Amino acid sequence: MFLKKWLCVLSVAAGVGAAPVQLITNGDFENDSTEWNFKVQGSAAGTRSIELSDRSNAGKCAVATVTTTGSDYFQAQLVQVGFPMKSTTSYTISFWAKADAVKSLQLALQETLGYKGTYKTVNLSSSWQYFEYTGQTRPQSHDTVKIQLAFSVGKFTGKFYIDDVKIVDENKTVTVIPDDWYSKADERIAANRKGDFIVSIKKNGVAVPSCSVKVDLKKGEFLWGTCLRLTTATDDNEKKYRDTAAKYFNYGVFENAFKWSEVERTQNTPNYTEVNRHLAWTDSMGWDMRGHTLVWGRTKDNHGMPSWAQQLRGNDLIAACSTRVVREMTKYKGKLKEYDVVNEPLHERWLDSTLGGDKSIYSKIFKWAKATDPTAELYINEFNILEWTEKDAYLSVVDKIIKAGGPIDGIGIQGHLTQQFTWKSIAQNIQTVADYGLPIKITENDINMNGASDDSLAKMYSTVMRVAFSHPSVKSFVFWGFWEQRHWRPAAALFKSDWTKRPAADSVYNLIHNVWSTHLATTTNNSGVVAFNGFNGTYTFSVKDGNEWKTITSPVVLSGKGNKTLSIDIGTMTVGVNGISPRTVSSSVIAGTYNDNIVVYGSNGRVAAKLNKTSGAYLTITRGGSANLTGTHLSNGTYFAKTIHNGKSIMLPVVIVK
Ligand code: G3I
Repeated sequence: MFLKKWLCVLSVAAGVGAAPVQLITNGDFENDSTEWNFKVQGSAAGTRSIELSDRSNAGKCAVATVTTTGSDYFQAQLVQVGFPMKSTTSYTISFWAKADAVKSLQLALQETLGYKGTYKTVNLSSSWQYFEYTGQTRPQSHDTVKIQLAFSVGKFTGKFYIDDVKIVDENKTVTVIPDDWYSKADERIAANRKGDFIVSIKKNGVAVPSCSVKVDLKKGEFLWGTCLRLTTATDDNEKKYRDTAAKYFNYGVFENAFKWSEVERTQNTPNYTEVNRHLAWTDSMGWDMRGHTLVWGRTKDNHGMPSWAQQLRGNDLIAACSTRVVREMTKYKGKLKEYDVVNEPLHERWLDSTLGGDKSIYSKIFKWAKATDPTAELYINEFNILEWTEKDAYLSVVDKIIKAGGPIDGIGIQGHLTQQFTWKSIAQNIQTVADYGLPIKITENDINMNGASDDSLAKMYSTVMRVAFSHPSVKSFVFWGFWEQRHWRPAAALFKSDWTKRPAADSVYNLIHNVWSTHLATTTNNSGVVAFNGFNGTYTFSVKDGNEWKTITSPVVLSGKGNKTLSIDIGTMTVGVNGISPRTVSSSVIAGTYNDNIVVYGSNGRVAAKLNKTSGAYLTITRGGSANLTGTHLSNGTYFAKTIHNGKSIMLPVVIVK
């Protein structure tokens, strides 16, 4: 159900949540009082009564009986008039309703004077349903406006039952994006995506002045990714697909392989071949992958909810969801660090509606997820948020899940754009979601605009990327594909089927790898130090030692709000972080085998593992200073291991080879 936008937003700084205030009087109709009128006009005729409800424990409800229809919904209305609402403020409207047959009514939240407002057609059945909508009121010159709430029933004869009507003032206002916001993107990028970093270069503990150093951002802290659809093919296209993904991006998401319907086609016989194929490749690339998606109530072509799960009901269905979540997150603990736990709760509603429509299954799913892997980032994910007008309904679902104890860590905004947009509409939608207070990820961007030229497509991608990258709440950005032959909307792809580039391919690459990246060729000063302002992320440093270039990758993310200093010793090939200088003793002193207090950093600078005596892992440091880590679940690759020796911290590059 689409939520009509309750009109634009003009309010001032974001407010913080406070106790919601009820605005409707006698919304439960337990008193047959006069707040609720039954207004008819034109040809319409009918009556209003208060009767005992047949919904359990609901007491009384209102019944509007239409005997003659009008020319439109509003010619017969059950309405409460004249209560004050603050302008441009988020409100949640909820109520129960049914009719004597399948028919619709129109909900109107409008100004008492002039009837300007917003309308929502509500489809009723002969069973009670719970409806909840969140929206903003219209901007006003003054801060309150007299509002009426009308259930307009004039289109169909028969009986309409309404109960438990609430309008809750969420007491939150929305931060308004000012007109100069986009022009100040670079200022926000400098403040939130960059930092001042200091790298000292030593050789066996002695500073190395005036030596050549190349500084290259290996992977940004802000991740740019793509959905992946790897195949078993070994042809040129598969190689080109993987090479292009590796060149353009550093982060990925399973397009389909991790979906429930793909993993568990037959109940209780999950098949992880495709998931593991993707992970083997992305691990070799040093990519993180998003677990898209644990539970998706989609039944179309049995892709989303497995067909066998669609036959389940009640506790059997709940149990199947729990098994899915716990099983996958146990299996991939430490390998998948973030998940789309629930996908598209607004649009794909089979699961929720099959289980009663109160959305309680969603908070259960998030609770199971957090209990299974407390370190994973748990996202919810939805479309029609970056465009269209469903962000308030989305936030309403997010809020409901969180208030029911579901631990949502972040909000995914898919970003499948099909309508003409402005930077401001995109930015305001992101801001409205950001005002909720959780991190945001752009999870599935593609731009599919009928008739758009390739050049305008490039400009549109650049605009969306700049809005996202310059908004501090946004943490990463994923393109939903990049090659026409593996794209659900081929016209949106960066590469055509024959691998010719659309202009967008170059503009996307340029922003990610040049404009918003750091590549320097410099020299150390007379203290052996290189200082630079760069983008947050993990860096590769190449240092010229005589005629030999030695390359070392930072073990951590350098960030304006985190690690800012590194000390590199090209003699022992060790890296100290934030003043913890590497042990510059000869390796013979530290040679040996360690099996406790080992922290392993991946090439992305993030902690990949913390190993203690019981982990069965061993860090072996040879007399030549090289180190191997064995007995861990980590996949092959280069890492950094930090351990304690004689009370001092040692950080060494380690290679895992299984
Ligand atoms: O694998 C079968 C194949 O065996 C069969 O011959 C063929 C024809 O029936 O269907 C193949 O499965 C298709 C699958 O893509 C793999 O190509 C499914 O029918 C088809 O529904 C599925 O479409 C995917 C869709 O999600 C549904 O899962 C799209 O590729 C994928 O791009 C799309 O991605 C979604 C995100 O997950 C959620 N957000 C929206 C986004 C776009 O719809």
